[in-house]
Amino acid sequence: MKQIQFHCQPTAPQDADTLVLPVTQEQRPQELYAQFGLDERIERLIEAGDFEPENGRTLVLFEAPAPFRRVLLVGAGEREPMTPKRYLDMLGAAANALDHSGAVHAFSTLNTLHPLEADADWALYHNALQLQRSFYDYEHESRGDRPERDPKLARVTFMEEDDPARQQVLAEARATALGMSLTRDLANLPPNICTPQYLADTALGLAERYGFEVQVLEREDMERLGMGALLAVARGSEAPPKLIALRYNGAGDAAPIALVGKGVTFDSGGISLKPGAGMDEMKYDMSGAAAVLGTFQALGELKPALNVVGVIPATENMPSGKAAKPGDVIRSLSGKTIEILNTDAEGRLILCDALTWAQGTFKPAQIVDLATLTGACIIALGHHISGLMSNDDALAERLGEAGEWTYDRLWRLPLSEEYDQQLKSNFADMANIGGRPAGTITAGQFLARFIEDGRPWAHLDIAGTAWVSGEKKGATGRPVPTLVRWLMAQAR
Ligand code: BES
Ligand code: MN
Ligand code: ZN
Repeated sequence: MKQIQFHCQPTAPQDADTLVLPVTQEQRPQELYAQFGLDERIERLIEAGDFEPENGRTLVLFEAPAPFRRVLLVGAGEREPMTPKRYLDMLGAAANALDHSGAVHAFSTLNTLHPLEADADWALYHNALQLQRSFYDYEHESRGDRPERDPKLARVTFMEEDDPARQQVLAEARATALGMSLTRDLANLPPNICTPQYLADTALGLAERYGFEVQVLEREDMERLGMGALLAVARGSEAPPKLIALRYNGAGDAAPIALVGKGVTFDSGGISLKPGAGMDEMKYDMSGAAAVLGTFQALGELKPALNVVGVIPATENMPSGKAAKPGDVIRSLSGKTIEILNTDAEGRLILCDALTWAQGTFKPAQIVDLATLTGACIIALGHHISGLMSNDDALAERLGEAGEWTYDRLWRLPLSEEYDQQLKSNFADMANIGGRPAGTITAGQFLARFIEDGRPWAHLDIAGTAWVSGEKKGATGRPVPTLVRWLMAQAR
């Protein structure tokens, strides 16, 4: 992904070629236009019906005030109330139009406008992130000879005072876009390439590049330690499982924050085989792992004063003569036994051992897991908002705030004993499924059984948000924005 250079400057740089202006339907920012001698011209265009400033419409003018070659007008729709969604849609349209305009260095004033409840930093962050994100292009030699994206745009200066706080906002946006790009590439890769080994190699590469500590446990290590739940899922696959641990140290010996990401590089369902239609999309079942790696890349770039560990249980879930069967009872690393009633509820099985191991090994101050865990979460929240479950109100609130700010949103679902009872088994400590009702919550309850008393924990179900299906099939890079924002807020 080509990196755009972002700057802040209150006045137009002499080498900028394109001026970008927001145009609202009412209460237009006339003083802004007047600074460039464009106030009357813009009013005339609108009166004559040459430009309808609906949200997402754009128009390029070629008689531009010096030093510009062109002016890009971006329709913003109604000024009041400007919702975050509409603002972000406008930024998306602006990024697209800029990309097709021939602009190399744009001077953007879109950040001078923002939703009522947001501030200048919010606007700056989203302007930079949206632009950089729009340059994402899935990169791998296996994609064939489709031409690579080669954007002309190299530099964007925002109309804003330049100070260290603004630089920090831009740095966060930039690092977030970079992390999202890695997350998207990993998730988009075909499952014959993005194997557990590939995830481990990616972690090793990040460790090398950014100086993280890294550790990869092999099948024999899992056997020695007694990770019966993770091993039960891995048993059906020819691809060796890996338990990957990355460690970023920026705060001495403080207890770390742990991120645990589900890394099922292909979920066929196992013996409880999934239907064929759309099964290819189960290559995305490692999106939690990919988001942990993307977040680590952002940490490597931003170097906050924090300690963070990333833990990734990585395996395929495949049917075979060796695979786990419905009815099997296995012993997890915690010692608790589990009756596998459906081999397709494999995410919680690999996560429970990873959660136990992460807590025992790192004694984290907070632990957040992220997983494409349940189809039921898509039924509950659709594709717009990720599910959040937590044993700690303060943690849930901070994550929720980061999600609102980045518009990579979360919605909390309850945990409660009644749901936990749905996991009863006649033959083991628990079953791995809790029936149809509240399938997202019973998966959360299953994980909660492996969280030590008093340890703040949150679980993000990203089944509906990690990728989009259909014509634009592809990974989204979520919830990297929320995780990075939440982590950075703790370093401030
Ligand atoms: N990876 C799936 C969940 C999933 C399905 C995510 C579709 C995104 C889209 C998970 O391993 C799974 O198969 N869950 C089962 C659980 C059930 C057997 C209790 C599900 O949701 O059907
Ligand atoms: Mn499954
Ligand atoms: Zn799965």
